[in-house]
Amino acid sequence: MRILRSHGKKTDLPFSQPLYPKKKSGLSSYIRYKNELYKILGVIVVIFFIYSIFKKSNSEIDARSSAQELDDLLEAKLHSIADDHRHYTVTKDGVIDNNEDSSNKELEENSLGYDVEFYDLNYYQADDSNGEAKDDVILLCIPLRDAEPILPLMFRNLMNLTYSHSLIDLAFLVSDCSDGDQTLQTLFEYSVLLQNGTLLDFLDKEEELKKLEKRQGSKDLYLKYMEEAYVNRLKNAFQPPYHQNYTKPFRSVEIYNKDFGQVIGQGFSDRHDVKVQGIRRKLMGRSRNWLVSAALKPYHSWVYWRDADIETSPGEIIQDLMKHVDFDVIVPNVWRPLPTFLGNEQPYDLNSWIESEAALQLASTLGEDDVIVEGYAEYPTWRAHLAYIREPEGNINECIDLDGVGGVSILAKAKVFRSGVNFPAFTFMNHAETEGFGKMARKMGFRVGGLPHYTIWHVYEPSDDDLKSIGKLERKNRRLLRRTKKKTISE
Ligand SMILES: *[C@@H]1O[C@H](CO)[C@@H](O)[C@H](O)[C@H]1NC(C)=O
Ligand SMILES: *[C@@H]1O[C@H](CO)[C@@H](O)[C@H](O)[C@H]1NC(C)=O
Ligand SMILES: *[C@@H]1O[C@H](CO)[C@@H](O)[C@H](O)[C@H]1NC(C)=O
Repeated sequence: MRILRSHGKKTDLPFSQPLYPKKKSGLSSYIRYKNELYKILGVIVVIFFIYSIFKKSNSEIDARSSAQELDDLLEAKLHSIADDHRHYTVTKDGVIDNNEDSSNKELEENSLGYDVEFYDLNYYQADDSNGEAKDDVILLCIPLRDAEPILPLMFRNLMNLTYSHSLIDLAFLVSDCSDGDQTLQTLFEYSVLLQNGTLLDFLDKEEELKKLEKRQGSKDLYLKYMEEAYVNRLKNAFQPPYHQNYTKPFRSVEIYNKDFGQVIGQGFSDRHDVKVQGIRRKLMGRSRNWLVSAALKPYHSWVYWRDADIETSPGEIIQDLMKHVDFDVIVPNVWRPLPTFLGNEQPYDLNSWIESEAALQLASTLGEDDVIVEGYAEYPTWRAHLAYIREPEGNINECIDLDGVGGVSILAKAKVFRSGVNFPAFTFMNHAETEGFGKMARKMGFRVGGLPHYTIWHVYEPSDDDLKSIGKLERKNRRLLRRTKKKTISE
């Protein structure tokens, strides 16, 4: 596990416990080809010996040409290794095969500073709908800001992923947190426990403690007003049995820290809200670009973007998205639950859409730097939103082409980023961030898609208005209760 990078201001390491000993990773060294190499070197020596006997008279045949021969042979050898192995390291002491999860400690320790890395980028193309069977490694990126309270939920969702954890590199970017927020510290602590296989126990205990501390039913009052199906779904999602490899460590965890300077404070409200949205989206685009450019390694085949505040999502989501291998970028549908008095549920992510004539028309009337954002009266786009195409009983494998995508859960082939597509932190075709990403990917010839009937659920946090309504309903219920009691007493 790589630990912590701090950009800009110096950060004290946010942990007190000793670091968990470095886990053996796929990068550990191993000379599988040592014997073969020796054989070849032996053959070279013999050939050279015979050669020099025959050419005795011509002993000027110099060291240069034999060195050339050796070079050619080594090169051929390296090519043949490269053909069946995607990543190896040449060190002064030998060839390390990074594809084998075995180690040669001595070699690793001696090789510091002498490595020459070789990658054949013709691999890692993400061209198989069953990437797991091909050992495709995924970079899972999560941007975080003031996320401390949501981290237990986020980690439970990560552990719930059934794509082999040993093929997932986790990369977090913590940015622009408020004073007193402990996102970085908590994230670090949980990551260490995650890699140690002890996080689930820890989270369960922490939750028990919280329950004991909490006054009975104060915070979860709203659950009384949620649909029963939802409450049951929630119950099942967060209790055993979990899948067999739930607590298995991930391939690696990287935590990055970088502030971008929040131009807009939390709770900003202004009549130029639409403009503020554009600025906000560009900032978010910038942080996503930092994260992926810092964390993307040559051996990643896929990049999966995930927001921290997903409440429930099928554990097989990565495999399910990967099935649609004809698409280079793909998103599921994102909804959120609501109290019954507000209609049970609601589309959450309106940034996944199919472009419309009306919106193109609108864009042509806007300034070059204007950003169209969905859901504002100023911008009637009349687009078909992925969220609204959903049928609860629809075929989860149905996939449609999209132009813009939301950022809650994006599976993209790593080559999309390698080719230069990014989350525009400027106005690109009148869009920014994830919607601009969708547009840019399309522009570069990649295929962008969405699954209208495959739904993941965003957390619902009651707004102040919702809490007021809940309070009203509670009082009404109590009055009713008192009345019926009185009635029964007087009868
Ligand atoms: C890692 O796990 C072991 C037992 O599984 C435990 O003894 C140890 O304290 C854990 N380390 C940390 C840092 O939690
Ligand atoms: C758990 O992991 C092992 C090896 O890491 C694998 O063979 C097995 O199929 C996994 N189990 C499930 C249910 O995915
Ligand atoms: C975990 O995965 C299972 C199986 O897909 C799913 O039913 C459950 O809701 C998931 N849990 C969470 C917290 O998303």
